[in-house]
Amino acid sequence: MTTLSNNAVTARAHTNIALVKYWGKKDENLIIPYTGSLSLTLDYFYTDTQVAFDANLTTDDVQIDGQPASAKTTARVSRFLDIVRQRSGITQSAAVRSTNHVPTAAGLASSASAFAALAAASSRAAGMDLSLTDLSRLARRGSGSACRSIFGGFAEWQPGTDDTNSYAIPIKSHGLADLRVIALTTAKGPKAISSRQGMRLSVTTSPYYPAWIQTAQADLVALKAALAAADFSAIGKISELNAMRMHALTLSADPDFTYFNGQTLTIIDLVKSLRHSGVECYYTIDAGPNVKVLCQSETTEKIVTTFSKVLGDENVIVTKPGPGVQYL
Ligand code: PMV
Repeated sequence: MTTLSNNAVTARAHTNIALVKYWGKKDENLIIPYTGSLSLTLDYFYTDTQVAFDANLTTDDVQIDGQPASAKTTARVSRFLDIVRQRSGITQSAAVRSTNHVPTAAGLASSASAFAALAAASSRAAGMDLSLTDLSRLARRGSGSACRSIFGGFAEWQPGTDDTNSYAIPIKSHGLADLRVIALTTAKGPKAISSRQGMRLSVTTSPYYPAWIQTAQADLVALKAALAAADFSAIGKISELNAMRMHALTLSADPDFTYFNGQTLTIIDLVKSLRHSGVECYYTIDAGPNVKVLCQSETTEKIVTTFSKVLGDENVIVTKPGPGVQYL
């Protein structure tokens, strides 16, 4: 990445995968969720973002992966930078250079790593020195899941009730160093229904949304107990079930929709048959057709071999727990 100017700040943040998902906003503007969620930050996929406020610019100048960002993306980044400008008192426009470190066009670029890196770089470039809690609150305004990517390892987003108390906290874990997440890519490119739209449709039309609030809260309590006990089987079971409960909201919305494609279903079947044959693994799926498989280091090779045959080597990536946000 070329350096913008002497006062440019660069930050790196990694993506995260939610094991108990965030799905539904109580406050769409402040991004306050209905329920808490818990994720694992991953080492393999990350975003580097450099920000410099510049008196010579008349509008924000945003480039992603070396290309000028679309008008829609630039507007979203500018809305986020407006929060930083308002809090810091800075009035200048900014140059933003962001690079996603994911395999080319793998469909794995994430708003979580993007907004966590943008929050860290832009706040410091504006002269603010925020605590990790305040960075998490700020990142949340860009994309809900970004508040968890401020932290490495496991992070819990405590839903809170307003801007001051809705942020993530790190969850300590012991005995889970050999946990692996295998990312399986089935489709590339942006999804047809954004998570924002999908959540709104689920909240407003699925008759099961009230049940989701109940079960997601219970899943979170159970997951935290499983993490404290370093009980891989329980972690996997809870994560898989919670993912399917989230996707049941899309299938029961009006109009109904799904993020799955044919290969998603094939992978689900394969994970179950691997499990029945004694290879312990579990799946989880976000708002898209790609699947993440949870396993432990000793079974990784077997699972990678199985899925490489179906999807091709380039669509099977092994990831580990990753670090929190850092300045470069
Ligand atoms: O942060 P968003 O608006 O991209 O929403 C993320 C939603 C899920 O990835 C499906 C779940 C989660 O908790 O990350």
